[in-house]
Formats: sequence, structure tokens, C-alpha cells
Amino acid sequence: MAKEALKIVDQRTDMEYEVPVHKGTIRARDLRQIKSGPDDFGLMTYDPSFMNTASCRSAITFADGERGILRYRGYPIEQLAEKCTFLEVAYLIVHGELPNEQQLKSWVNEITFHSMLHETTKKFLEGFRYDAHPMGMFISTVAALSTVHPEARDVHDPANRLRQIHRLIGKVPTIAAYTYRHSRGMPYVYPDSDLGYCENFMNMLWRLAEPKYHANPALSRALDILFILHADHEQNCSTNVMRAVGSSQTDPYLCVAAAAAALSGPLHGGANEEVVKLLDEIGSKDRVPAYIEQVKAGHGKLMGFGHRVYKHYDPRARIIRWAAEQVFATTGKNPKLEIALELERIALEDEYFIKRKLYPNVEFYSGIIYQALGFKPDMFTVLFAIPRTVGWLAQWKEMLEDPEQKTARPRQIYTGHAQRDVVPMEQRAGTTLAAER
Ligand SMILES: CC(C)(COP(=O)(O)OP(=O)(O)OC[C@H]1O[C@@H](n2cnc3c(N)ncnc32)[C@H](O)[C@@H]1OP(=O)(O)O)[C@@H](O)C(=O)NCCC(=O)NCCS
Repeated sequence: MAKEALKIVDQRTDMEYEVPVHKGTIRARDLRQIKSGPDDFGLMTYDPSFMNTASCRSAITFADGERGILRYRGYPIEQLAEKCTFLEVAYLIVHGELPNEQQLKSWVNEITFHSMLHETTKKFLEGFRYDAHPMGMFISTVAALSTVHPEARDVHDPANRLRQIHRLIGKVPTIAAYTYRHSRGMPYVYPDSDLGYCENFMNMLWRLAEPKYHANPALSRALDILFILHADHEQNCSTNVMRAVGSSQTDPYLCVAAAAAALSGPLHGGANEEVVKLLDEIGSKDRVPAYIEQVKAGHGKLMGFGHRVYKHYDPRARIIRWAAEQVFATTGKNPKLEIALELERIALEDEYFIKRKLYPNVEFYSGIIYQALGFKPDMFTVLFAIPRTVGWLAQWKEMLEDPEQKTARPRQIYTGHAQRDVVPMEQRAGTTLAAER
């Protein structure tokens, strides 16, 4: 049987090394023994943007970009979206197994119990300008929770960790809804513990003077499915931030705030906002071919297309298309859908997109649904951050429980000056001080 090892010959020294291979991976630390001389630090790998580096072992999410597969804890995303609720999936992602009836009941109770915000946090939110971007408000308010729950700093106590996980999953919809009401100048609505996770979120968003808010079941289920699809996606940019910040034992509120900041960028969770802007810019179906030509000529990207992992149709995009139809049956069709479908049709037949394996990603259709539900584009990334909080927390917990993990601290290749001496100000090039005096 072939040996699971790599033989390396260092041609600088003619030395030979053997490095074990495990699951198609070598340990970067094993390369350190390869030195050109006694003063050499040892061989490193250079991998900007972590294109080919595994930073952890994880049992949470499996994504196969070539085959278009996504599974949480082994369960296909399609089955979870069809058969489970978001909170059931959240339990699965955090605890590793689907809950039984009793476990689900107590999980839902804990999360519902923690959905209320401290009144001072509400006041904190009131202090934002009327036109503050909801994502900026969301990130800052999650970070501010760190001051309300200082005991969260004890990240090594599993029971304490779990309490913060309940709190965060319970409170993020409340914060998100308050950012929405704030930007509309409407009074905040307290959580209603009689309602399910999505119904309660919709209640906090849209309740007006009615004594009890009743969410449209088709819309709340569509939102629940969108939350399931966005709950985790292994080591993406924001999850990597969650793990990196958490690795210095920062409390989970500050970690989630940092992860949400990474999510807000237009190349990550901010893409759905950009997709709707792009569809607005195109304006009508007949202008799609010209737009595609513009992208191919290097003027901008087709937002909502392409993925670092998926080089095939993103399996989430397929489910979202289905969810979009359910929403449109209630709300009426979003006219942007026609433009989006045409964009997808033309792009998928075009050599530029085929060659680069660029397919619609999860964000391509999500914005159109959010808009049909009544959200403005600036809320879209906040809607992504609510479910992704579950994934961030599960990854954070897994990282803290992993004895191999230490403070995340990459190496660098220094490209700056060698040592040099400080020159007095009057002798530095361009200084005019002497002349002015
Ligand atoms: C997601 C994304 C950052 C992945 O990027 P990546 O894996 O680093 O891939 P690259 O940026 O190296 O792209 C590879 C090639 O495809 C092109 N490309 C990638 N995404 C593209 C897009 N959305 N539109 C047009 N061209 C695109 C790049 O220009 C590059 O072309 P080149 O080989 O001629 O230089 C990238 O596809 C993107 O920016 N997409 C739009 C933003 C988006 O929808 N993000 C949400 C992700 S869920």
C-alpha cells in the first residue's frame, strides 16, 4: 500500500525529508525542519488570502464547491430547508445533532427568554443618527452587549459559553428589528414570547397599532428557509474573523461584532445589497446583454456571481429561487426578478462565465426576496447576520474546545528596509524648516 507521506528533496542542501500526509494535507509546521543552514528560520508557506490553507479541523459544515454540495453536520441543506425550522437547524449546528422534542422545546425557551434587550441598550440604539446604516448600528450594538454581560469574558466555562450563545441567538433579531424601526423613526416593539423566531422578528419589524401581530405564514416560512440557508458556510471571511478574534479569548459579543464587520463588505454579505443596486442600474431586461459585455470588458463585476468555493451552481441559490416563488405568490412579483433571470440565462451561456466557473451564488436572489418582503437594500446584510450568528458561535465554540488551536497569528515575508538609522529632521530630504527659521 502507498505510504501516506511526502518526500521532499531540498536542492539547496541535497537533504531529503519525509512529511506525513493526512486527509490530503501536510502540516505547515513539518516544513520548518527544512533549513538552508543553521541560521535559517526554516521553510514557510506563502498563501495570501488563504487560498490553499486549512486553518482548523471542523465537523460543522461540509461544502464541496465542485459538486455543488452543502451539508450541516452531514445533513444535506435541501433536506434541512424542507423538513426543519431554523431553530432546529441552529441546535444542530451548535450541538452537532438534531434535537429531540424535549431538547428543542428547552432550546427554543432559552432563546426566546433571552430575546429582550436591556433598556440601556435600547437607549444606546436611540443615539444613532436617523440615517445611520443599519449594519453599522447592528455591529456597534452587538459590541455594546459586551458591556452589559461582562461575565461573558469567561470563555472557558462551557455553561457560561452556552448562556451567551442563547443570548446572542435570542437578541440579534431584536437588535436587527430595532435598527430597522430606528431608520424609519418608528417606536421599537418589544419581543413577543408567544411567537416563533421568525414571526417574532416580523412582529418587531412591522407591528403597528394592532394588539397582536399575525405574520403571514408563507412569508415567515420563506424567511425561516432563508435563515437556514445562511446559518453557516464553513471558513468564509467572517467566520475566519470570528475564530481569529476569539482565539485571543475575546468575549463572544465582540467576536460576533468583528465577524459582522467582515460580513458587511460588498464582496461578502454586502453582495446582496450590491445585486439590487446592479439590477436597478440595468433597469430593464433588454439592457442585460450590454451590461454583460461591460462586465466582460473589465468594467465592474456581476455581483451575486462567483464564489471562492463553489465552482458550480451554489446549492443555496437553487433553494432560494424556489423560496422566491413562494414569496412572490403572496407579495406579487418583484419586477427585478425578470432582469435577474435574464442575467443568469445569458451569463450561464457565455464563454467568459463558463470558463471562470462563475455561477449565481446565494446572494443573487436573496436581495430580490428581501425587497419583496418590504426591506430596503441597506437592511439586507443585517438579515444575513441574524442566522450567520449561529454559525459564528458554533465555530467559536468548536475553536475554543480544540486543544490544537492557539492565538491566530500568521507569519509574514518581510519586504521592507534592512536596519537603518534615524536622521535628524533638518537633514531629511524635503525639509524646509532651516530655511523658514
Ligand atoms: C466571490 C468572489 C470574491 C470570489 O472571488 P475569487 O475566488 O477570489 O475569484 P477571483 O476574484 O480570483 O476571480 C477569478 C476570475 O473570475 C472573474 N470574476 C470573479 N467574480 C466575478 C464576477 N462576479 N463578475 C465578473 N467576473 C468575475 C475575475 O475577474 C477573475 O477573472 P480573471 O481570471 O480574468 O482575472 C468573486 O467571485 C466576487 O467578487 N463575486 C462578486 C461578489 C459576490 O457576489 N460575493 C458574494 C459571495 S457569496
